[in-house]
Amino acid sequence: MLAVRLAPWLAVLLQHVPHAVAACSRESLLAAAEKYVELQASGKLDLTTLSAAATVAYKENNANHDIKTGVLSQGLKVSYNRSTADPVACASYTELVALTPKPYVIATQITHNATDMSVTLIDTIAATTGALRFDAATTLKYFQAEDWSTLPAEKRPSRELLRNTIDAYLDMWTNATAIDAIPFGTPCERVEGSARVSPCTGGAPRGGSKQPNNMRRYVIDEVVGSADVLCQFSAVGAIPDSHEVRIEGGKVRYVHTITLSAPK
Ligand SMILES: *[C@@H]1O[C@H](CO)[C@@H](O)[C@H](O)[C@H]1NC(C)=O
Ligand SMILES: *[C@@H]1O[C@H](CO)[C@@H](O)[C@H](O)[C@H]1NC(C)=O
Ligand SMILES: *[C@@H]1O[C@H](CO)[C@@H](O)[C@H](O)[C@H]1NC(C)=O
Repeated sequence: MLAVRLAPWLAVLLQHVPHAVAACSRESLLAAAEKYVELQASGKLDLTTLSAAATVAYKENNANHDIKTGVLSQGLKVSYNRSTADPVACASYTELVALTPKPYVIATQITHNATDMSVTLIDTIAATTGALRFDAATTLKYFQAEDWSTLPAEKRPSRELLRNTIDAYLDMWTNATAIDAIPFGTPCERVEGSARVSPCTGGAPRGGSKQPNNMRRYVIDEVVGSADVLCQFSAVGAIPDSHEVRIEGGKVRYVHTITLSAPK
């Protein structure tokens, strides 16, 4: 019944989610995320057939966007993809890098209906030429050098630590002492566009901005030790942004930022 109401491409996205696994399980969320990556790679998003009754909402760079003209409608050669799963929020997060036919570094959260796993929202921050310190080839090299594999049980952070850490991180621009609440590890590397900064405290702000970074949407994965937030970087302008941390053994190991540029 569901497939009748949905666009063919979305039905394809859903039918590959194994029915035997519970809704919102890691397996089902990651399987759907992989389908999303394949869709981005295929360039065969035939949106002329998108039914008027399709229930998926699409946001690109913090604004509602027509999916037919969005980045998902372009075929990109995907050089890197990595996904995490949040069974509590019934959502996934995917980071992907493409160099051709156009360079992109993309951060996407996909939210599902917890009852039937249908996709309710595809929420994308798509950085390309012109974004902050943008150089997809350099970013790709840095991402490929990192280890984001699942953590053994004793090294997994709690959901609370992940949430508090990513919030404190985004609060650093407006709160002079927020930095003290972040358990930075040694080593810790931050990849922001084509820049790799180590230690992660290098260049970290200590308050000073008036507008808090807002519109925060979270995908938290204790198994990988990651928390991603898509947000609006209001501290420095209304800038679409993704910030993600990886915590290993209680300490921040990696930070990724994918940030568009300030409006001219
Ligand atoms: C995404 O990454 C996974 C794991 O590295 C890989 O197996 C898969 O082929 C990639 N998907 C695409 C469409 O490139
Ligand atoms: C989720 O799916 C169920 C079953 O199809 C449906 O009854 C419900 O209205 C959906 N919820 C939302 C928020 O769309
Ligand atoms: C600023 O951050 C600190 C953590 O170091 C926290 O205790 C405090 O409540 C924060 N202040 C505000 C106004 O949020």
